[in-house]
Amino acid sequence: MATRHFLSLLDLTPAELRQLIDRAIELKAMQQRHEVHEPLKNRVLAMIFEKSSTRTRVSFEAGMTQLGGSALFLSPRDTQLGRGEPIEDSARVLSKMVDGVMIRTFEHSKVETFAAHSDIPVINALTDFNHPCQLLADMQAYHEVRGSIQGKTVTWIGDGNNMCHSYINAARQWDFELRIACPDGYEPDADLVAKNSDRVSMVRNPKEAVAGAHLVATDVWASMGQEEEAADRMKVFAPYQVSRQLLDLASPEVLFMHCLPAHRGEEVSHDVLDDSRSVVWEEAGNRLHAQKALLEFLLA
Ligand code: CP
Ligand code: NVA
Repeated sequence: MATRHFLSLLDLTPAELRQLIDRAIELKAMQQRHEVHEPLKNRVLAMIFEKSSTRTRVSFEAGMTQLGGSALFLSPRDTQLGRGEPIEDSARVLSKMVDGVMIRTFEHSKVETFAAHSDIPVINALTDFNHPCQLLADMQAYHEVRGSIQGKTVTWIGDGNNMCHSYINAARQWDFELRIACPDGYEPDADLVAKNSDRVSMVRNPKEAVAGAHLVATDVWASMGQEEEAADRMKVFAPYQVSRQLLDLASPEVLFMHCLPAHRGEEVSHDVLDDSRSVVWEEAGNRLHAQKALLEFLLA
């Protein structure tokens, strides 16, 4: 059987994704009961990080340990990848030594190249193009608090970035309507929007975009690698801050999510992360459980 990878939400079927979320909820309950569950005994996950991380690194590493295996942190600073060893060669070599590879990098083509030369599952832990692991946690959080997201309205506010792209794929896989409000010139990938135009729409005005929404999500205005654009972006994105007042225009049932790290006073007002409608801490915690379900699915 061909090796399965997780480079995008589209690599799993909607049914597989639903199963994964159900499993994540079960694994979370097992964890809370301190039940030992070690289906990945002696398995090793290599984690290649070319960008910083708190949640992703800790959740994958803790997740592998809890499942009975272990994880290796590999930084480009001290591996040959950082000195120009081809990705193809690194993929072939790691395939001989470990059971799975998780990669956080810049160009999406790097994870695709790695996967194309890998005999073991490759997990995309964020590229400039998308962040599918985060969406597993987000969808788990929505399900836990409100039930099925099918047919609901979700609003993405801010940058048309990697997270926004994963929300577009999620809209297709979980069958919800997605409204995207971003400033002129910061739209998501036009092809991706066009391919999903049956459920994805661009609504320039944030107030109109959140009207009646069941879920509002945002992210930083300058992503990793865009540090030099940060000052310019602060000005352009100022009207796109998510505040309590903005959430008041959404459905009374609205939930607020942010993949974190957040910049209070920029994309979020100082108080919104701690608003009763915000589920950002559950969302972050779910990275552990959703990825354990993913690791079990791909490696067990
Ligand atoms: N949300 C997320 O991926 O966080 P980290 O950058 O801390 O991994
Ligand atoms: N869009 C952000 C997400 C961080 C988890 C970034 O790429 O930096």
